[in-house]
Amino acid sequence: MTTRDELIMQYKQVRTATEQICISLETEDYVVQPVVDVSPPKWHLGHTTWFFETFILKSYATDYKEFDAAYNYVFNSYYESVGARVIRTDRGNLSRPTVKDVYRYRRFIDEAMITFLQDTSSLAEIAELIILGLNHEQQHQELLYADIKYILGHNPLFPSYRRDYLPPTVSQVKSPAMVPVKEGLYEIGFQGEGFHWDNELGRHKVYLPAFEISNQLVTNEAYIAFINDGGYQNFRYWHAEGWDWVRKQQITSPLYWHFMDGQWMNYTFRGLEPVRKEEAVCHVSFFEAYAFANWKGMRLPTEFEWETASHLFDWGQRWEWTQSAYLPYPHYAQAPGALGEYNGKFMVNQQVLRGASEITPAGHSRNTYRNFFQTDLRWQFTGIRLAK
Ligand SMILES: [Fe+2]
Repeated sequence: MTTRDELIMQYKQVRTATEQICISLETEDYVVQPVVDVSPPKWHLGHTTWFFETFILKSYATDYKEFDAAYNYVFNSYYESVGARVIRTDRGNLSRPTVKDVYRYRRFIDEAMITFLQDTSSLAEIAELIILGLNHEQQHQELLYADIKYILGHNPLFPSYRRDYLPPTVSQVKSPAMVPVKEGLYEIGFQGEGFHWDNELGRHKVYLPAFEISNQLVTNEAYIAFINDGGYQNFRYWHAEGWDWVRKQQITSPLYWHFMDGQWMNYTFRGLEPVRKEEAVCHVSFFEAYAFANWKGMRLPTEFEWETASHLFDWGQRWEWTQSAYLPYPHYAQAPGALGEYNGKFMVNQQVLRGASEITPAGHSRNTYRNFFQTDLRWQFTGIRLAK
């Protein structure tokens, strides 16, 4: 049970962390939406605030007067049960509310939330919902990083986000190996105390034939070998959809890579720099992960293999594509009301990713966490682990 003081502290910490991510941005960086999947930073700041206003303050705080009734239309993301909203592609077309307005909105909601948390007599009832709102905001912190990288990394000037950005160190494996796991019945899904999403529940047994899984992620060096061997020119390695994607989009390398003056350059948060061969490859789509594994004569792990073997390797640098479709676990129950729209309605045409990435907020990862994206998307920090 989280105490009142703990909850207030967690609330302040998460809300501050979101704004810290934006501290080096210029006003213009907050507004643009270069592709549909990338939302303007200003929108993330408003939407996460709207989440607390809509699901906590408007629902539970007595005498609460909303900041601006029109904001529901601007900052609702996809909740059909909460009313009409601006279409996703238009998020970057809005010069109003201004960045200043959005920060004012954050101040207003934060003050109202703190007062509410200090005074409410129904803390036990709403604590879980607050923690869900904080986990929601942490997901948006990661989206903010990915979206900021896309915005700056697709600017021809390649501006740096932070010159001093250093990805957190994850211990390096001294001897890369394929680790064997015995066949058997394994338990999959969340169990125990603590926060989890509804899609992790429904712990159940899964039978796994014996398999081997790599104790390290595919490196840039290995990926360059795939490129040099004509990986992007040979249809045999690709799904039909993947091959269409490669040809239509003229894909020849991971996102953010540029072949310049005879070498591969990579846009990072520090700016454009040579590809570091020893680093785990990043920003690849499911199509690319699958093709690379095929070229290697291996495959991607299923999400069940990944979870079962996750104690055998270090994870947390890259979201790892699995060959599992994003589907409900047995007895999956969609919650009633708007929050039932959080996960369940996305369980179609997406692949599961496991692990976490270097930009996932601390304390937000679990080995049962199920992330999910469409097969062609690669602006998240996605990588490859092989299995056979
Ligand atoms: Fe959201």
